[in-house]
Amino acid sequence: MNDRFLRACRREPVDCTPVWMMRQAGRYMPEYRAIREKRTMLEVCKTPELVLEVTLQPLKFGMDAAILFADILLPLAPMGAPFDFAKGEGPVIFSPIKSRADVEKLHDFEIEEGLGYCLEAIKLLKKELKVPLIGFAGAPFTLASYLIEGGKSAAFAKSKRLMYSDPETWNILMAKLSHVVKKFLHKQVDAGVDAVQLFDSWVGQLSAVDYRTYVQPHVMNILQDIEKRGVPVIHFGVGSLHLLEAMRESGGTVLGLDWRTPLQVGWEKVGADRAIQGNLDPTVLLAPRELAEKHAARVLEAAGHRPGHIFNLGHGILPETPPGTVEAVVDFVHRTSACT
Ligand code: CP3
Repeated sequence: MNDRFLRACRREPVDCTPVWMMRQAGRYMPEYRAIREKRTMLEVCKTPELVLEVTLQPLKFGMDAAILFADILLPLAPMGAPFDFAKGEGPVIFSPIKSRADVEKLHDFEIEEGLGYCLEAIKLLKKELKVPLIGFAGAPFTLASYLIEGGKSAAFAKSKRLMYSDPETWNILMAKLSHVVKKFLHKQVDAGVDAVQLFDSWVGQLSAVDYRTYVQPHVMNILQDIEKRGVPVIHFGVGSLHLLEAMRESGGTVLGLDWRTPLQVGWEKVGADRAIQGNLDPTVLLAPRELAEKHAARVLEAAGHRPGHIFNLGHGILPETPPGTVEAVVDFVHRTSACT
């Protein structure tokens, strides 16, 4: 088993810098688009054999970890908030949350019943993989923002209105989401994932004070519980330079940095006792290969070959990315950081 990703999570010496990319399985790959021509996104997620196939697709580029093909929104449907991925619009929640009564209607469920297909896919994957498997979940703020806004949002106005005007309802919602997320992550570890990532993609929308007041207790509760399982936990947010100290307090073996955060500054805020994942700008992969490699070299230089760096993008890969550039960058990172 190639364990350089897990070694880097634990800040142990590695033969070269491990690489994987968020959204590494997706529309930029013709093999993925071919499957999606016949099946919807949700059909793919709910069919373990297809999840197996799609999760394995990007490994041909030399990635040092696989990430389970799924979506952070999947737990919402069995809680009583069904949704779909609308063409070109992203996720659409059919009945967004507006009131205390709506929050009270959200319910707990058995993971094996509501998300058993993910656990089955993990078991299939573990039989095939020669690299570690990353499981994941969305963090409560990011999930709550989809539930309340009904989809993507610019200002997160509805979410913040509920948060500020009815903190009690907000806390009930965050607690319900945290409970499900925690159970789901535990079940993924039971099924065999080697590491987990908590995606708090939109938490950078909050000031540090508001993060500490309205979000941190919930995230801390999830992360500190999962860390007891002994698997590395990656804690990721976008636009979160101003939150890094607080996110570090919340937990995570590894902190994920987006590309706006200078890696050295970010690592300093996070502290030398944690590993770092990131942080190439995903749009750099649309540039000519030589330029993409130059930017990758800068990321490696900023990390300074310190143990505990996992090379990744600062956010998910874009559908218009040329697969050849992905392969070239993975190879470049391995070669320049010493793999032969
Ligand atoms: O990283 C991986 O390869 C694993 C798979 C994965 C997906 N979504 C597949 C997906 C992961 C880890 C996610 C996480 C996710 N989903 C996040 C957190 C990470 C981030 O990007 O900030 C968020 C916010 C979501 C919600 C979501 N799902 C959105 C906003 C969208 C539409 C965006 C888009 O690009 O159209 C999705 C759909 C989705 N999830 C796709 C994939 C591959 C595109 C599906 C398709 O049409 O084929």
